[in-house]
Amino acid sequence: MEKLTFILVSFLAIASISRSAAQILYLGVIPINSLLADTVGVTQINCYIQNIASGQNEDTYEIAEASITNNSSTRFVALDMNDTPLTEGPDPTSDVIGRAQGLFGLDDLYTIGFFIDMNIYFPSGPYSGSTIHIVGRDSPFLSHRELSVTGGTEYFRLAKGFATLSTFFGNNSTINAIIQLNITVFRPILL
Ligand SMILES: *[C@@H]1O[C@H](CO)[C@@H](O)[C@H](O)[C@H]1NC(C)=O
Ligand SMILES: *[C@@H]1O[C@H](CO)[C@@H](O)[C@H](O)[C@H]1NC(C)=O
Ligand SMILES: *[C@@H]1O[C@H](CO)[C@@H](O)[C@H](O)[C@H]1NC(C)=O
Ligand SMILES: *[C@@H]1O[C@H](CO)[C@@H](O)[C@H](O)[C@H]1NC(C)=O
Ligand SMILES: *[C@@H]1O[C@H](CO)[C@@H](O)[C@H](O)[C@H]1NC(C)=O
Repeated sequence: MEKLTFILVSFLAIASISRSAAQILYLGVIPINSLLADTVGVTQINCYIQNIASGQNEDTYEIAEASITNNSSTRFVALDMNDTPLTEGPDPTSDVIGRAQGLFGLDDLYTIGFFIDMNIYFPSGPYSGSTIHIVGRDSPFLSHRELSVTGGTEYFRLAKGFATLSTFFGNNSTINAIIQLNITVFRPILL
């Protein structure tokens, strides 16, 4: 029954974003892929996170910690908030295309691991005023990490997708880092 409800809801969701009522009528015979091709847009955004956690122009601050944090080699349960520029290239002076704004917490007792919950915000440019919401786990010392795109607003309304990260430059003493961020977003084209 649950499965049936899911299929029905999926059907309604797809039907409601399809190009015309005619497609809804013929859903039974139209291959699902061709229907989705008409109604789903893909956006690829490749950029670099310029994270400055100490020194001049700091964009990340710790906002809370617990009694265990100072005793923990992984700074367990420290919570930070940031507003970090996203640049087109790895050079910090290259064009800023957006900002990563939100929360990250150290949520691993045994290795350095972040829980990330952020908005990728575009103050200007082709996606001006829109956001992409990214959530997930980041182990900063792994060469490749992946986060979920769980939603978005305006241009990215109802978005789904994923974001991959890899560290281009990191300094263990300042904790400043330049991180390559690629975001793949699928979004329904609401006709
Ligand atoms: C952790 O250590 C720092 C620096 O010594 C101190 O300012 C802070 O209050 C300590 N935090 C806790 C929760 O004890
Ligand atoms: C932190 O470590 C100090 C020194 O080893 C110890 O006295 C204290 O109880 C520890 N605090 C916590 C919250 O584990
Ligand atoms: C981002 O995309 C570029 C171009 O396709 C690729 O070379 C790079 O490895 C990707 N990086 C990540 C972290 O996905
Ligand atoms: C890391 O930061 C420290 C402190 O500012 C600096 O002395 C050191 O040269 C930096 N290392 C790298 C690889 O940039
Ligand atoms: C920074 O710290 C990580 C984790 O401890 C380690 O794997 C890495 O080699 C360090 N990098 C440098 C340049 O010391």
